Amino acid sequence: MKIINSPDEMREFVRTTKACGKSIALVPTMGALHEGHLSLVDAARKCADVVVVSVFVNPTQFGPNEDFEKYPRQFDEDAAKCEARGADVVFAPAAADIYSKDFSTYVNEEQISGYLCGRTRPKHFRGVTTVVTILFNIVKPDIAVFGEKDAQQVSVIERMVRDLFMDVKIVRAPIVRDENGLALSSRNRYLDKLERIGAARVHNALEAGKKLAESGCDNIDRIKALVINTVANAKTRVIYAEVVDAETSLPVQSYERGKCRISIAVWYGQTRLIDNIRI
Ligand code: PAJ
Repeated sequence: MKIINSPDEMREFVRTTKACGKSIALVPTMGALHEGHLSLVDAARKCADVVVVSVFVNPTQFGPNEDFEKYPRQFDEDAAKCEARGADVVFAPAAADIYSKDFSTYVNEEQISGYLCGRTRPKHFRGVTTVVTILFNIVKPDIAVFGEKDAQQVSVIERMVRDLFMDVKIVRAPIVRDENGLALSSRNRYLDKLERIGAARVHNALEAGKKLAESGCDNIDRIKALVINTVANAKTRVIYAEVVDAETSLPVQSYERGKCRISIAVWYGQTRLIDNIRI
């Protein structure tokens, strides 16, 4: 497996790979890799000849008071995991090589990005769409794999790819959870042992909402109320809990079986967790 840091070297690798007629799948990540990320590598391997995993903690998607500084960085471990999983390249550029000092061009999706996480993280999706566009321009993937753990993020990226006629196929991969149901996340390492067990209530609340919907309740307010009541304890503060369209992540007026998703974000102690479930 190759480790490439320089964007120019990455472009050179892409040129020779394409010249051989080989297809490329990209798995964009911010590192601190866990089984959720690695399941994306597995999915990517099924779709293309060459798998590139990018590891880049993207400064532009963090707000001024967010966890950019303390975000976990463990590059050697990440590279070893990618190699063990059969990735061909880890692309890990330095921030200064991606963002020039006078960088001034952003990509902005202006509808989906305004809801859910976008309400409390105003420039977050602008940072995501910008860096993903940059990565697409460097790696020129035929396919890019994203996890449904961040369902709104995939919706935003799918919209960007459609609107800007980007020549890449977006593949969605299912959420990987721990044995208690907690969705794996690099931020779970901010949780202490007890919190990690308690945080499983986020998934339990989503399951309760799903059960209510599937029992025939199509009242969105009742579904939301049950989710919020089930997740509540002394440690949790709900940021949002919404029933949205499963594909676009936009709000829905009525529940249509199989076509919706309950999306939730909570503060669990000092840790911001997001999760969702298809209903
Ligand atoms: P990061 O949080 O590192 O996630 C990288 C990819 O892994 C995303 O597509 C995310 O949805 C997926 N992922 C994370 N946890 C998962 C889980 N438990 N199950 C399945 N997939 C999971 O998302 C980002 O980085 C960044 O915003 C990025 C797209 C790389 C742009 O900077």
